[in-house]
Amino acid sequence: MSDDLFSPCKLGDIELANRIVMAPMTRDRAGPGDVPTDLMVEYYRQRAGAGLIVTEGTQPSPTGKGYWRTPGIHSAEQVAGWRKVADAVHAEGGRIVMQLMHVGRAAVAANKDPAAETVAPSAIRCPDPIPGPDGVPVETAMPRALATDEIAGVIAEFVHAARNARAAGLDGVELHCASGYLPMQFLSSNTNQRTDGYGGTAANRVRFVVELLEALAAEIGPGRVGLRICPGVRFNGMDDADPAETYATLLQATGHLGLAYCHLIHIPNDGFDALDLVRTNWTGAVIENCGLTQEKAQGVLAQGKADAVSFGYLFIGNPDLVERFRQGAPLAKADRETFYTGHGDDARGYTDYPALG
Ligand SMILES: Cc1cc2nc3c(=O)[nH]c(=O)nc-3n(C[C@H](O)[C@H](O)[C@H](O)COP(=O)(O)O)c2cc1C
Repeated sequence: MSDDLFSPCKLGDIELANRIVMAPMTRDRAGPGDVPTDLMVEYYRQRAGAGLIVTEGTQPSPTGKGYWRTPGIHSAEQVAGWRKVADAVHAEGGRIVMQLMHVGRAAVAANKDPAAETVAPSAIRCPDPIPGPDGVPVETAMPRALATDEIAGVIAEFVHAARNARAAGLDGVELHCASGYLPMQFLSSNTNQRTDGYGGTAANRVRFVVELLEALAAEIGPGRVGLRICPGVRFNGMDDADPAETYATLLQATGHLGLAYCHLIHIPNDGFDALDLVRTNWTGAVIENCGLTQEKAQGVLAQGKADAVSFGYLFIGNPDLVERFRQGAPLAKADRETFYTGHGDDARGYTDYPALG
């Protein structure tokens, strides 16, 4: 059955053995130099039964970092570390794309290289505190507004990161355009107060993301580039005046690219349904996410509303989630205390969730 969770599918150029995707999850366990550790290799290897793994948010440059111990993909050491991750997942028959996450203003200065700036579309501080090195939430850094002639340089950082991800053997990249990070800061009317061609109307506010996706597609091929969105989310101080208009404009403006997929974090919104909005304005494949159970996910596929479904929380405690779904086996609960421990050499709550049998 082609709409079955366990049936193969193709997202752009990427062939999946099943339609169950592991959602991107920041786990704050990268090693010195923001290099993936051997523990991270094991964590992803254990979860390679997913049709596709989307990695944790990974910074394309030191400027793009904002949380503690998130991995990067801008140095040779980081590429070598990710190569081990990609090889381990591929050896198990899995597929893996890297989520490119530039946090923009959602950054704590103490979490990043002291030489790295904090930049955003406009000089407006993120009002929500973010955990510092010891895990205690602190005030975010005051961002500097990017000058118009600096934007091409930021896009070039992402292109370099995508090239590195492919060089490391990953199957593609996903642009994190949700959760109040840099791309979403351009989209959202309250964080983008620019008066140049990148601010003002919806057509202008989506320009940065469209140019960025065009550049990524030109570098590694459109069939290896995914887009992650969450219309209407208020996390990290987002407050768009009209998310339905913003995202319809974005999706229509990127349709010509033929990207691999749109990965939707589907939250409730007043006045519109985000999955309907994606279905109306996006012609490519869709991955549906947020709060799904096996039964709900199967229903979404059966109704033809998505091509694949993703699970976050369930993959933390159930490394063999696909096998458990297949067998109807009980699901383990994940321990929220260890979601972000910040201890790179600590397997607790990370690689110590057992598989069945
Ligand atoms: C520990 C944790 C870390 C997360 N980190 C990211 C991230 O780096 N990038 C992202 O796009 N979403 C991130 N998310 C959101 C998940 O990808 C997903 O959208 C969310 O958990 C809802 O899906 P679920 O109900 O299946 O868990 C994170 C979620 C959790 C629980």
